Amino acid sequence: MRVDIISTVPELLTSPLSHSIMQRAQDKGLLTVEVHDLRPYGLGKHNSVDDYQFGGGAGMVMRCEPLAALIDELRAERSYDEIVYLTPDGERYAQRRANRLSLLDNLLLICGHYKGIDERIREEYVTLELSIGDYVLSGGELAAAVVVDSIGRLLPGVIGDETSALTDTFQDDLLAPPVYTRPAEWRGRAVPEVLRGGDAAAIERWREEQAEARTAARRPDLS
Ligand code: 6GU
Repeated sequence: MRVDIISTVPELLTSPLSHSIMQRAQDKGLLTVEVHDLRPYGLGKHNSVDDYQFGGGAGMVMRCEPLAALIDELRAERSYDEIVYLTPDGERYAQRRANRLSLLDNLLLICGHYKGIDERIREEYVTLELSIGDYVLSGGELAAAVVVDSIGRLLPGVIGDETSALTDTFQDDLLAPPVYTRPAEWRGRAVPEVLRGGDAAAIERWREEQAEARTAARRPDLS
């Protein structure tokens, strides 16, 4: 999969995508992420990428021309399956959407800042608008990192144990069951006996029960 990201603060995306599983995905050639700085496409001698909004009001709006110039340049290189704008008024991002996006080949993500991007860019280019939750971030970069991470780890071959993404919390609208590692007893707290025996069917049953109980108690909205 290839992901291009348009940003006015590309540094915000460097670290989250350069470690751990995201780095491994890129090292293995399963994921390519390229971050494109919008600033060189800005207008005038100050490379302006934003301006006051028509009608007045606090907050700047990202201008059409720089975004259009960069998007056109990228689209001349490849055709995108989705052009995604990260915005708090977008569709609430969830695992179902991550699963679907992970099947695509080419994604373009646009990170907004200030009050957002000019509405006409959304009309002209954007095919999908995503929000990562009901709170406001100062820009789309952290949201883009969340989207790329959640998709990247689903690509076949990225996670060592091929089945482990399938047992994640949310993958079947269930929270994950509790997990334990050594020591078997710590500060008087013992690991549940069933996990220490070798009865695979009993372990599986216990995990399912725990997942159901935890989901009912913590996230009744999921079931
Ligand atoms: Cl995608 N962008 C911004 N700026 N804030 C957000 C968001 C996105 N998702 C939740 N809050």
